[in-house]
Amino acid sequence: KLINVHVCRFQMAAEPVNLNEFQELARLALPKMYYDFYAGGAEDEHTLKENVEAFHRITFRPRILVDVSRIDLSTTILDYKISAPIIIAPTAWHKLANPEGEVATARAAASCNTIMVLSFTSSSSIEEVAASCNAVCFYQLYVLKKRDIAATLVQRAERNGFKALVLTADAPRLGRREADIKNKMIKPQLKNLEGLLSTKVSSDTGSNLEADAREAMDASLSWKDLEWLRSITNLPILIKGILTREDAIKAVEVGVAGIIVSNHGARQLDYSPATISVLEEVVHAVKGRVPILMDGGVRRGTDVFKALALGAQAVLIGRPVVYGLAAKGEYGVRRVIEMLKDEFELTMALTGCPSVKHITRNHVRTEHERI
Ligand code: FNR
Repeated sequence: KLINVHVCRFQMAAEPVNLNEFQELARLALPKMYYDFYAGGAEDEHTLKENVEAFHRITFRPRILVDVSRIDLSTTILDYKISAPIIIAPTAWHKLANPEGEVATARAAASCNTIMVLSFTSSSSIEEVAASCNAVCFYQLYVLKKRDIAATLVQRAERNGFKALVLTADAPRLGRREADIKNKMIKPQLKNLEGLLSTKVSSDTGSNLEADAREAMDASLSWKDLEWLRSITNLPILIKGILTREDAIKAVEVGVAGIIVSNHGARQLDYSPATISVLEEVVHAVKGRVPILMDGGVRRGTDVFKALALGAQAVLIGRPVVYGLAAKGEYGVRRVIEMLKDEFELTMALTGCPSVKHITRNHVRTEHERI
């Protein structure tokens, strides 16, 4: 009997039924230092909790007696048709989760027919990822003091068929993640930067992530530099890290191809707002001129639906992908995306939305709206 109980427990752990269960599997699979690095947020982790909980405060206004015998989840982002409005966010160092690193993640993206945004701080190179599969990939860029490095990386991304650049603009300095400080988090290799940086910054033995980032990152980057960025690439540029109408308007003015409403998974400025709570402010300011994506705290298909109802074209998922990778490699990432898609599809059926175009503002009620 005892053995049976153990078998049952193992099976429960082995085949998760939702994204949160993948987090628990990842915690069991990873060394504490790596798990904390992936899971942690800045300082009090107030925003980390809020990113998830703000979704819980939004409820549905479901419509009945709509023909939902066929549901179409597909959508188009910058001309790329994807199977559902769920994209892989750029996250650092996938080889800490699995030896195949970003190559496994990209293969999962390809088999789920979605887009992967490869992180600037990836542990597999641009070339390895491009050669591994035919996933549609965007390249996420940080701009370092050595500006010519950005130009080199952008050219490599273009040459290898990456389709867009994502400029992450909310990290002039690294947020204070206290678990990493306590754990003396090691700094893994930055694969794409090999040979481009001084040995000090590219070594894998340093332990102060914040100091190293401060030395390398160009904190002087400002709106006028978008012109420079546009001069070194023909790729469309999306800006990631927008949380206010003011910055959304500026982004449109400088000619970006898209906006990602994001607080960097609550790893930068604690007490920045939950992203889902400011999405509408940005949507109203942009007035449909460029597509708006969002990330932060998306853990359920219902969250995907809520983001779309409030005006996002798609969501990105960060931590759940890394948890899937840590728990079960490429298969785990695939399962994470498939589960979210399945939940999203069910939500569409139960709210009366046969396609993503049918999802409207009227299908949700935020906490500020009277019943
Ligand atoms: C990130 N994020 C991030 N963003 C970015 O632009 N470049 C990067 O290298 C990273 N690295 C990174 C590492 C880890 C471990 C995490 C958790 C996050 C932020 C990421 O792209 C995304 O904004 C958030 O992860 C979204 O929130 P959720 O889905 O993790 O809640």
